[in-house]
Amino acid sequence: MAGHDKSEWQHAQVEWNSVSAVRVGIIGLGNVGGGTLRLLRNNASEIEGKLGFPLEVSAVCSRSVLTNPSEAVSLHPKALRTPDWREVVESPDVDIVAELIGGTGSAKQIVETALAGGKPVVTANKELLAEQGPEIWQRAAGNGATLGMEAAVAGGIPVLNVLREGIAGDGIDALIGILNGTSNYILTEIERTGAAFDQVLKEAQDLGYAEADPSADIDGYDARSKLAILAAMAFGEQVSPRDIPLQGIRRIRTIDFAYAGRLGHTIRLLATARREPNGLRLAVRPALVERNTILAGVMGSYNALWVHGRGGDTFYYGKGAGPDPTGVAVVSDLMAAARDLRQAGGSVQRVQPFGHTRLSPHRPVSSGTEERQFYLRFRVRDRPGILAALASKLAEQGVGIEAVLQEPHFDKQDLPFVATLEPARRAAVEKAVETIKGLDFLVDEPLALTLEPTLAAA
Ligand code: HSE
Repeated sequence: MAGHDKSEWQHAQVEWNSVSAVRVGIIGLGNVGGGTLRLLRNNASEIEGKLGFPLEVSAVCSRSVLTNPSEAVSLHPKALRTPDWREVVESPDVDIVAELIGGTGSAKQIVETALAGGKPVVTANKELLAEQGPEIWQRAAGNGATLGMEAAVAGGIPVLNVLREGIAGDGIDALIGILNGTSNYILTEIERTGAAFDQVLKEAQDLGYAEADPSADIDGYDARSKLAILAAMAFGEQVSPRDIPLQGIRRIRTIDFAYAGRLGHTIRLLATARREPNGLRLAVRPALVERNTILAGVMGSYNALWVHGRGGDTFYYGKGAGPDPTGVAVVSDLMAAARDLRQAGGSVQRVQPFGHTRLSPHRPVSSGTEERQFYLRFRVRDRPGILAALASKLAEQGVGIEAVLQEPHFDKQDLPFVATLEPARRAAVEKAVETIKGLDFLVDEPLALTLEPTLAAA
């Protein structure tokens, strides 16, 4: 408190505490909205102690808030409860809008309308931000409002804050993320129990970890949206999710963990970004990761992000989803927005939502040029000459086999075995796989995964 004597400080505190609350409108009372409401109630005194003024929920919106009053039971009796989001956004008693319904339909209108009115927005909407984040940011900037989006990526792990501010001084060369808790839960349950994919997916749905329509999670779309946001943040490029090569986990079988294990590896759905001389190489794909690496230790619904910076490697780990972890991210963003409002006309220089003053166009590097060791798993009706036929198709593309692995005692009508390949370009391996698909002894298309090097070795 240099320059202030004690009486001045006490005086300042009295003034702070007498300032009225910053008022929040919450749209969407599902998992994340419900968690946010609960945290705002349970942590109210900590939040006020940190901000110097309270955060108060002055309005909530959900489809069922009028028919199911328990959703908003803890709110001030005068708080607005409505199924119409416009009433929340336009209410003079709402200073900050939290958009927690997800998707790109009404959510987009909510965010745009709030920002057009100069109201700060906090959102957990990865899909909307991945597709239209830079435009939304420009709209926020044009209206002098802030945009909070920590909850959109990796739930309770503040990775956006880390990239935006914590390690802003570093130059980042690569990221590897495990960004989808549902997929990680399914993969690690198959690994742990030896159960079949469909059975584990059903259990995950029964436990509420996976949606009735699990596609966004298991086909990789959710992780891809998150990677697009992270890549913009880390590398300053405007990345469209559609430009990121994508492979989900539906085709991973229990037997793949057995073969990966024999190779000293396990399997994780990885979101990767690497800076290369000609641009950025991005992908979301399941891959073999070495068992003795930190990524292999990420189990269940946890998320992780490994950042390879020139200043060194850092690793971030925690719950990537769920009402409380994601709610913490939302509430922390609400606090930042509230501080910013109280600074109106003041001297703070805002850090831009994507951590850069502007984003440059994305320069994707084709995944075909990536050189990796590959794992090819085949299911065949056994007969003589299969290995010779496969080796010949691979050799036509200049690709050599390193080793062949075969577990005993499988049905000869559906025999799984694996070939690991000498390091080769992805384009050559994919071309070989295309020609192999036509061979009559295959029971299923071959599964191609890479053996992913650790970041330090990348
Ligand atoms: N469905 C996501 C996951 C959480 O399983 O990680 C929200 O992004």
